[in-house]
Amino acid sequence: MFEVLVTGGAGYIGSHTCVSLLDAGFSVVIADDLSNSKFEAISRIRSITGNKVTFYPYDVTDEIELEKIFTRHSIRCVVHFAGKKAVGESVEMPLEYYRTNLLSTISLTRVMKRHNVKNIVFSSSATVYGNSKKVPYSETAPTGNCTNPYAWTKWMNERILTDVHRSDPDWSVILLRYFNPVGAHPSGQIGEDPLGIPNNLFPYVTQVAVGKLDRLPIFGSDYPTKDGTGVRDFIHVMDLAEGHVSAVRKCIQDYGVHAINLGSGKGYSVLEVLHAFEEATGKEIPHYFCPRREGDVAVSYASTKKAAQELRWRAQRDLREMCQDAWNWQKLNPLGY
Ligand code: UFG
Repeated sequence: MFEVLVTGGAGYIGSHTCVSLLDAGFSVVIADDLSNSKFEAISRIRSITGNKVTFYPYDVTDEIELEKIFTRHSIRCVVHFAGKKAVGESVEMPLEYYRTNLLSTISLTRVMKRHNVKNIVFSSSATVYGNSKKVPYSETAPTGNCTNPYAWTKWMNERILTDVHRSDPDWSVILLRYFNPVGAHPSGQIGEDPLGIPNNLFPYVTQVAVGKLDRLPIFGSDYPTKDGTGVRDFIHVMDLAEGHVSAVRKCIQDYGVHAINLGSGKGYSVLEVLHAFEEATGKEIPHYFCPRREGDVAVSYASTKKAAQELRWRAQRDLREMCQDAWNWQKLNPLGY
């Protein structure tokens, strides 16, 4: 049986993807230096699935460590999540972002090449569409024009992997462009565990609900949207995880470079999310309005046609389920892992 290497497998999307890969019958090897995640996530992946998972606490920028993994295991495909992901922090520490996020991809693909492993699924983001205004975003929309170093690292990694394929057409590269992943595994054992005050809407809302934070700031009430607040394509993290399983299946059977959106195709406003959360949980979320957050677009949601065609995958879970599962995780783990 061949194995799938998941870099960053202890992180939020990585851990859910490991569960879905194991549930689908794949063997999983995780490399994660735990710089922004906890070992407990690995234990919980094991306890949810009842499967064996090999874990290496390695830094994915380090070729010597990666060599050990590829020598010990018969890796057939890599799902590459490892990297830094906070937009605001990337503006303050650009060099750290370029170093970690680009070097990890370069080291990884160099080692893959030496071991003749040429199948990679990359964790990209809708952020590569930059300020492109036309919604829904289709994969043929222009990319670049990014507003922060984090976004540029996603864009540059897409470029690097595309050029790797161009140099050797045996490579199979799938670039998955995520919209806004939220929610948690229905067991409530794994979920999003941000360090410090959350930047993103859902973890902020759940931390208000659990009493860790007082009130939700709503950034902007004057956008040209149905209620003036920003609109995003929220996707349940389990749907996203299952999208990766489909992508791995395609990746190992296919060649070429494919950029594919993973979103629900629906846009919900910040106020709609707030009300859905209150309804799903019976918790009131105190909030207040403040000015727009720099770099935010008014509306972002995915065209989902390509994912349906190429991956035979579609998001199944609705906003209510996203809210219930996010809340279940937060309630069971008020302090995170
Ligand atoms: N928002 C608030 N209050 C908060 C946090 C967010 O009102 O406390 C609003 C934002 O202004 C935005 C919406 O909620 O309108 C969603 O914001 P998030 O921070 O949750 O998500 P973003 O859409 O800004 O960013 C997400 C990922 C990024 C990724 C981007 C790509 O977090 O990593 O999508 O589309 F780059």
